[in-house]
Amino acid sequence: MINRKGIILAGGLGTRMYPLNITTSKQLLPVYNKPMIYYPMTLLINSGIKDICIISSIEYINLYKKLFAKGQELGVKVRYLIQKKPKGIAESLIIAKNFIKTSPICLVLGDNLIFGNNKEIERKLVEANKNEKATIFVSKVKNPNQYGVIKKYNNSKSLVVEKPKKFISNKAVIGIYFYPNKAISFARKLKPSKRNELEITDLNNIFLKLGEMNIKLFSKQVFWYDAGTHINYFQVSKKIYDYEINKGFKVGNVHMAALKKGLISKKKFNYLASKYNKSSYFS
Ligand code: DAU
Repeated sequence: MINRKGIILAGGLGTRMYPLNITTSKQLLPVYNKPMIYYPMTLLINSGIKDICIISSIEYINLYKKLFAKGQELGVKVRYLIQKKPKGIAESLIIAKNFIKTSPICLVLGDNLIFGNNKEIERKLVEANKNEKATIFVSKVKNPNQYGVIKKYNNSKSLVVEKPKKFISNKAVIGIYFYPNKAISFARKLKPSKRNELEITDLNNIFLKLGEMNIKLFSKQVFWYDAGTHINYFQVSKKIYDYEINKGFKVGNVHMAALKKGLISKKKFNYLASKYNKSSYFS
């Protein structure tokens, strides 16, 4: 049994979302009918991860505590840690070292939403969870200059280049990363980049150079959105609305994910569903 620890990173300045996030954390903003963080939480639950830590700023951490408490409603354990300043995505592994202990890790960005072909998503996530090597996921995008992208060299080897100005490839790295435990010590050796952050791309490149990283591509039936800009945020909200209303699928429903994984009983689920039966989240 792998006891991989999950981290949801939900801090950052979120300046691209101004003024929506003046009074709250970006990752708590609603995406259609649920808080944004429900979507990455669903991914962790679907991956088979039950021990989860949310990292956010001191200003907002209590809001996350209110939302998930100790995780009992979902049959998982949820803990909370603070990132004092947004010093980079890779810093999350250092912040969470006492929570992670000797376990492997799955880090997911609180503003990344992945949905669509559930069978494909769950199969690939569970595979990554079971794999001893690191795994990153990529998706083909039209605007690769906004992401970390895959660069092929020497025919078969790959590296990630963060937000390349010139076109390198259209394969963008998605914000869900599976690492073996040694990622913590690798993160500790990282030097801050020009923008003074510990870059997740630098960490990924260490694993790629060692040949210890799987790169998995999601098919066109899987949708990925980084909801960190107004346009993406609007588009993903609309897409999820369409998906739920027109296709009849629930997306990012953490309670359903917990029920499906056997983490909560049908009785517990039904109790909540009847209590909130007027909300489209359950009905
Ligand atoms: O969305 C995928 C992309 O995420 C990857 O393709 C890139 O390689 C990766 O660097 C990252 O790029 P972003 O520019 O989107 O990262 P951003 O600074 O927006 O941070 C992503 C999330 O992590 C966001 O929800 C805020 C949070 N964050 C970020 C930093 C730097 C923190 O909580 N603390 C931080 O220190």
